[in-house]
Amino acid sequence: MREKDSKKFYITTPIYYVNAPPHLGSAYTTIAADVLARYKRLKGYKVFFLTGTDEHGNKIARAAKEKGIEPSKLTEKIVSHYQELWKRLFISYNDFIRTTQSRHIKVVRNVFQKLYQQNDIYKGIYQGWYCVPCESFWLESQLKGNLCPDCGRKVERIKEECYYFNLSKYQKRLSQYIEKNPDFIQPPARRNEVIGFIKKGLKDVCVTRLNLNWGISCPVERRHTVYVWIDALLNYISALGYSLNGEKFSSFWPADVQLIGKDILRFHCIIWPSLLMALGIDLPHCIFAHGWWKVEGERMSKSKGNIIDPQKMVENYGADTLRYFLLREVPFGEDGDFSLSAFIKRVNSDLANDLGNLLNRTLPLIEKYSQGKIPPCYEERGIDKQLREKIEGIFSPLEKAMEELSFSQALSLIWEIVRSANLYMDKCSPWREIQKKEGLKNCLTTLYHLSETLRLLGLLLFPFIPESAKRLWEQLGIREKLEEQTFDKAKKWGSLTIGMKINRGRPLFPRIRE
Ligand code: ME8
Ligand code: MG
Repeated sequence: MREKDSKKFYITTPIYYVNAPPHLGSAYTTIAADVLARYKRLKGYKVFFLTGTDEHGNKIARAAKEKGIEPSKLTEKIVSHYQELWKRLFISYNDFIRTTQSRHIKVVRNVFQKLYQQNDIYKGIYQGWYCVPCESFWLESQLKGNLCPDCGRKVERIKEECYYFNLSKYQKRLSQYIEKNPDFIQPPARRNEVIGFIKKGLKDVCVTRLNLNWGISCPVERRHTVYVWIDALLNYISALGYSLNGEKFSSFWPADVQLIGKDILRFHCIIWPSLLMALGIDLPHCIFAHGWWKVEGERMSKSKGNIIDPQKMVENYGADTLRYFLLREVPFGEDGDFSLSAFIKRVNSDLANDLGNLLNRTLPLIEKYSQGKIPPCYEERGIDKQLREKIEGIFSPLEKAMEELSFSQALSLIWEIVRSANLYMDKCSPWREIQKKEGLKNCLTTLYHLSETLRLLGLLLFPFIPESAKRLWEQLGIREKLEEQTFDKAKKWGSLTIGMKINRGRPLFPRIRE
């Protein structure tokens, strides 16, 4: 991620298809975006976090037909599922774009018109194959055993009049751009994949379909419909009011991070930047394609029927545990295998035991030895200093990990703090310190260090597990709101108010029974 001069941060997720309710994969990308958005807000950035839904095209029209309802009925229903899930997962998006909204449709038409007028779009005939589930065009030579090379499903033969976008014209500029900007496509494996693909040569792409009512009609010729991927990709600028004198566009574009799964890499790293070049606007700073969650080695997908329902996971185990697991278990960028037993193991050991117990052990001691108030800190002893310096030493690698989207690494650094604090408590044993001569001072100094550590853990964990971090602060008695904190100020050791009443409550993370 490039360091910005201006403190703005524009982050996007893919807009999800509304043929079926959300699954774990869409939750994954959206949670990751949320973590970054929350972190950047703490760091003082003006954040614009966009997500939304991709509602047009054959795939949706057919899903509606199968259910015997109008596409608009289906989209309303599924969109509400998404919005409900995002609410439950504490997704702090700033805008939710739907491709059926007129604000989006206007921009798609403006863009099409402009590209047509400048001869980047021209009329022709398409002869080849089409995969409806992926909404992608394929040449005969690209098929694998007559099936879609991406999803392995049946493709359909089409021969129709269409409009083409001059993709080949941008091949050279795009390669040069990728060459010059090593951070543009991440992680490196995905960047290499794109470079390899471009090397084979880019062909112009179809940007309209015929005989498809469920879509945006083409402004140049009404009986054509804008190809759903062109429609969808433009959401990232239509949400900012591009071409409509949008103030948001000048404040937030270019996007700082565009998160996607590796399934839609080519659309985002080839067609999307070429469209932007044709429009004469800057490219996003970074497109990051993460890996796939699989179930027993198989890719999870709506059509394979092996999906993990995030709604059920949230109902059964809570949002923060799911957020934590998804980002901790697998390094961001790599594939992972989802299993309930791994989930339960992780939650019990890291959240219920390590973090939960740190709080559950500390608060009763404060009640017992400090009248339920944040104790004062007397002289800092060697062991206290060690803990403090350990924590202070984590910030720099932690911030680096966040900048690099290494969420799992960031969490593992935070857990070094959790573990150090648990060890510190065992070593000091404040319940024994109190029994020694002059013991109260030592005991309170220990409890002060534990409280301060817990305060900092709340701050560091807020992007990842926002609800639990809030409850952690509440139990410490802190009145200020986490979302109003400035990271660089709040991360300073020693800002707890001494004498503040704590507020012990239910355990943050009940153990899940295996
Ligand atoms: O492709 N593991 O929408 P979509 C991890 N509408 N992430 C996954 C996943 C999995 N098994 N499955 C899905 C579309 N995802 C288009 C996008 S954008 C202009 C248009 C996530 O509903 C991942 O982010 O099929 C993937 O790229 C996205 O969902 C695809 O969602
Ligand atoms: Mg998909």
